[in-house]
Order: sequence, then C-alpha cells, then structure tokens
Amino acid sequence: MDKLRIRGARPLEGEVGVSGAKNAALPIMCAALLTGAPLRLANVPRLMDVATMRRLLAQMGVAVEHREGEVTLQAHEIRDPTAPYELVRTMRASVLVLGPLLARCGRAKVSLPGGCAIGQRPVDQHIKGLQAMGATVSVEHGYMHAAAARLRGARIVMDLVTVTGTENLMMAATLAEGTTLLENAAREPEVVDLARCLQAMGARIEGAGSDVIRIEGVASLAGAAHRVMPDRIEAATYLAAAAAAGGRVRLRGAAADSLDASLEKLREAGAAIAVRGDTIELEMSGRPQAVSVRTAPYPGFATDMQAQFMALATVARGTAVITETIFENRFMHALELQRLGADIAIQGNSAVVRGVERLQGAAVMATDLRASAGLVIAGLAAEGETVVDRIYHLDRGYEALEQKLGALGADVARVR
Ligand code: EPZ
Repeated sequence: MDKLRIRGARPLEGEVGVSGAKNAALPIMCAALLTGAPLRLANVPRLMDVATMRRLLAQMGVAVEHREGEVTLQAHEIRDPTAPYELVRTMRASVLVLGPLLARCGRAKVSLPGGCAIGQRPVDQHIKGLQAMGATVSVEHGYMHAAAARLRGARIVMDLVTVTGTENLMMAATLAEGTTLLENAAREPEVVDLARCLQAMGARIEGAGSDVIRIEGVASLAGAAHRVMPDRIEAATYLAAAAAAGGRVRLRGAAADSLDASLEKLREAGAAIAVRGDTIELEMSGRPQAVSVRTAPYPGFATDMQAQFMALATVARGTAVITETIFENRFMHALELQRLGADIAIQGNSAVVRGVERLQGAAVMATDLRASAGLVIAGLAAEGETVVDRIYHLDRGYEALEQKLGALGADVARVR
C-alpha cells in the first residue's frame, strides 16, 4: 500500500497549476446520461474518483473517451441503468446517476452508498425529491429501485442543504414535464458549474448559486462542450500548506472568488495574499496566528477545508476552535495529528487546538480524503520525517500531489 514520505520544516517556494474540480467533474459526467449526443469536457482532473465514474458510466453503455484531461462521453443508448455496490461503495458520488437515469430512461437501480468514514451520509433528500417528481423508489437488498414513466415538475423544499442532493434533483428536473422549484438548494460553485453545463445542453435553469433554483423541463437535451471549473478545495489546500510551512507560493488557473472564506481565514492567520485574475499568491513568514473556523454550507467555510485548517492551527500562535457542523464524524485526523505532537482536545463537534512551536514527524494513517490532506500539511510543517499511510485516499481527490508539492520545494516521495 502506497505511503507518502515527507521531510518537513522547509518553507514552500514555487508555482503550481490548479486542476479541474473533482466535485464539479463528477456530477457533470453524469449529465452525459441526459442526452444521446456527445458531451465534451475539458479540464477534467486525472483522479481515482474520475476513473471510477468513467468505469461506472461505461458499464451502463456510455461511450467514454479520455485524452489528456479531455473527456468525451456519449450515452447513445443506456444498456443497463444500474450502479452496482462494488463501484458505489468506493465512491458515494455514484448516487449522482440516479436523477439522470430516471429522467432519461425512466428507471434506475442504484446501490445505497452506505456510510463512510466521515459519517452516515444518508440519501433521503435525493429520494424524497424524486418521489415528489412522481418517481416510485423502493429500497430492497441494499439497492434503490426507482421508476417513473415521466417525471413531473414539483416544488421541493429540501429539509437540509445537500450538494449532491441538489445536483441529482436539478439534473432530473431538466427533462421533467413542467417546472420544478428547488428550495433550500445548495449554493456551492460546483452546483453552478453543473447548471452552466446543463444550460449549454439546452436545459432551462435559473437561480443556480442561490437557495432557490427554478428548472423548466424540456423534451430533450443536446450535446455540448464544457470546461470544468478549477478545484477550489485543491487550491485552498496548497495555500493552507504554505501558511503552515511558511514560504511563498503562487497558484495558476484558480477561481479566487470561489474560495473567499478560506482566503479570509488565511489572511486572519497572517498570510499576505495577492489575487491577480486567475493567479493567487500567498506569502507567510513566521508562525501563523491561530484562527477559529466553523464549517457551513457555501458561502460559509467549507467542511472540505476543516482538516487542513486544523493542521494549520496545530502550529499557530494561540488557541483555535474548529467546529464541524456538516458531518458527524469528521475529526479522525485529530487523533493522527496528536501523534505528531499536536495539542487537540475534542469537545463534541468542536476541537480546541493549542498551537505548538514545532510538530515532530511520525508515522500516521490517512482515514479519508481531506483528513489525509491535513496530515500532509502537518508533515510539511513538522521537524523530521512523517510517513502518511493509505494515501489512496489522497489519490481520489488530489491530482499529481507529490509532483505539485515537489514543484513547491517540498521533500516528498511516494514509497511502498
Ligand atoms: C458533497 O458531498 C461533496 N462531495 C463532499 O466532498 C462535501 O464534503 C459535501 O458535499 C459538503 O460540502 C461531492 O460533491 C461529490 P451533502 P454530499 O449531501 O453531497 C446530510 C470531498 O472531500 N444529508 O451536502 O454527499 C449529510 O449526511 C467530499 O470532496 C442527509 O442527511 O454532502 C451531511 O451531514 C467529502 N440526507 C449533510 O447533509 C441527504 O439526503 C451535507 O451532505 C443528503 C445529505
């Protein structure tokens, strides 16, 4: 099993390009199911999750061509509208085929994703919304069996903000009879990017990015070409790494306006940040100041940045309180950070982090995608050698991680 060996306590210096956003590419690939015409995608990140999604769609009969970050998908005919457990359990985002399959072919058999390390993560809102649009959904033997002759537009008030729930229902509504209102919708930039792709395919969508999205169903959708937005979580992760290790980094091809909350917190930590177009430059000299964060749906502070900012807090001056309001079990990185000498006390959904002068390198284990990013950041700041085990978690969401960190002057290597 691959490990990442990091020799830390070196400032980061250099420039990296930001890859396409994993959490935009995944729903947008599923949008290909909504039409028999080709959907040409640019700036698709080379990630394990994208490869899994490609496999899942190909298994249904979608023709998929992948070349250097360009992916062309054509669902000329959908042979088998099934998402099997062995694929869904490795990637929960597979649930995003449910809405498109129902809209395009009137039936779908999708394995329940099951829980994951960070929480139970039910899909009740996805099911409730599809039922409101006239689908029948039964759950048998771990699978959701859904059917609908033709989905009908409906007014759906989501009980809570759910990103993929909003995306699934928005995609389903594009081909429904009549108009759908999604209220209490997620406002994440990835939802907006998906809406832009659907509009290019001929969908009639208004309000994406706000908490009320209006979709007027059309008879069919066409093919389109779409460039996936830059990954705001990848970008903010590298910036947090530079804030923790010190130094000066420049990110190319970033969408700065999509990571405002993180930039604001990094400035509060004492980083000097300059944004010029799609380039973000961060300089940090000396130890960061402790900054507290509380995760919230967009435009609030992203839960996907919580582990990275906890790592930053472990070496900051002062005490930070990190509060996680989205997932019920997203502090596993805290236990591993303590192995590096971090002073963290967990109190319910808050972690009180007292910054220390120096972390000491140690062997640690990744438990989920963003937790492992937090451990890498801590390793970059720590004295000595840190070895992060189970870094397949990282490969799911960070393209060419060791190459990019190497370009920033970090001493990292993938070892067996
Ligand atoms: C998306 O997951 C992202 N994944 C996650 O990123 C991200 O952490 C999360 O949104 C929150 O921003 C993708 O976009 C592929 P939710 P999603 O539905 O949609 C509860 C990463 O690291 N909920 O917004 O699955 C749920 O349990 C990943 O890239 C229900 O109760 O998250 C959670 O507590 C990790 N019922 C909260 O809502 C539902 O039907 C938010 O979940 C749906 C969700």
